[in-house]
Amino acid sequence: MDLFEYQARDLFAKHGVPVLAGEVIDTPEAAREIAERLGGKSVVKAQVKVGGRGKAGGVKLAATPDEAVARATDILGMDIKGHTVHKVMIAELSPEIEAEYYVSYLLDRTNRTFLAMASVQGGVEIEVVAEENPDALAKVPVDANTGVDIVKAREIVALAKFPAEVAEGVAEAMVTLWDTFIAEDALLVEVNPLVKTKDGRILALDGKVSLDENADFRQPSHEALEDKDAANPLEAAAKAKGLNYVKLEGEVGIIGNGAGLVMSTLDVVAYAGENHGGVKPANFLDIGGGASAEVMANGLEIILGDPDVKSVFVNVFGGITACDEVANGIVQALELLVSKGEKVEKPLVVRLDGNNAELGRKILSDANHPLVQRVDTMDGAADKAAELAAAAK
Ligand SMILES: Nc1ncnc2c1ncn2[C@@H]1O[C@H](COP(=O)(O)OP(=O)(O)OP(=O)(O)O)[C@@H](O)[C@H]1O
Ligand SMILES: [Mg+2]
Repeated sequence: MDLFEYQARDLFAKHGVPVLAGEVIDTPEAAREIAERLGGKSVVKAQVKVGGRGKAGGVKLAATPDEAVARATDILGMDIKGHTVHKVMIAELSPEIEAEYYVSYLLDRTNRTFLAMASVQGGVEIEVVAEENPDALAKVPVDANTGVDIVKAREIVALAKFPAEVAEGVAEAMVTLWDTFIAEDALLVEVNPLVKTKDGRILALDGKVSLDENADFRQPSHEALEDKDAANPLEAAAKAKGLNYVKLEGEVGIIGNGAGLVMSTLDVVAYAGENHGGVKPANFLDIGGGASAEVMANGLEIILGDPDVKSVFVNVFGGITACDEVANGIVQALELLVSKGEKVEKPLVVRLDGNNAELGRKILSDANHPLVQRVDTMDGAADKAAELAAAAK
């Protein structure tokens, strides 16, 4: 989960990374009081989860509280690379800046390690530095077991060739940034720019943080950082039910058990769809190993509630949860949804294979539900689901 700059700033402050004061608002008038409190001068910064805000006119200096209101008026509602600005941060104006640097930590999946990156050429897009002047960007692997203490931080700072007079200050900031990275279970923490001011301070003026959602169970405070307004309502509803669901663009609703099976189901449906006017899978939904009637009902409720869905493909490979249980789950789930007053009127194609497949198929045949069709091969079922979706489009 990517955070807004103001949320990154708050996390940095919590772990001792040197930051300036800043408060987030969503109405221009609220800027006045904050700017006054910050000493009159301030910087008004668009809060959008996309880079290059400054260049797009989303970062503006305000010399007075009245100007802060005016700049906030300009920036709120602005479109930056397809992102509408709903919030701005009123930030304390930095003392005069002498140099802008770049520092970050991230998870380097390819090399199975953490990676520190640092450059004295900050303030600009780091991708450009990496491209045009790769020597100016130090990349230093960090062992997860030892992390970054002041000694390691000094090593990173030396490799990035920071000037001697800022080396210790930057190294100290890098230790606090590492603390943030670890304590918050982040996948990325980035400061760009980290500045040296004329009065000798090292300050993080802009930050980017991406949190690892797999760690949510031990990070209860992270829930409050979610951008509820931006979340897809179907994804939010699925998350509330504990389902692994991702909304996609197509028309064929997909339910399967096991992430691998569901991924290959998406491929097979997309392929079959090429013969049926280009219909595509409408979602990823893995209901996991224990496909009880309740879990099946929850999954079907989400998918049938998606107006884009024209047909549903339930693809189950019986393992620990056998096909007869899943078949009963499907039958009961449809009854459950009808009894809850849900509209159940889209065709379902069900393919059951694996443990107790014969029994499962028999249960479906006996139930003889008007919306349910059984197709016993994955390719055949995908083709049928695509055909039904195309016909209903
Ligand atoms: N509080 C501040 N006081 C003074 N100058 C600032 C302040 N915040 C940012 N700046 C200046 O504005 C520049 C751009 O700000 P910032 O890095 O926050 O936005 P950006 O780089 O345009 O956005 P993004 O990181 O999304 O691409 C900084 O490099 C810095 O020179
Ligand atoms: Mg920046």
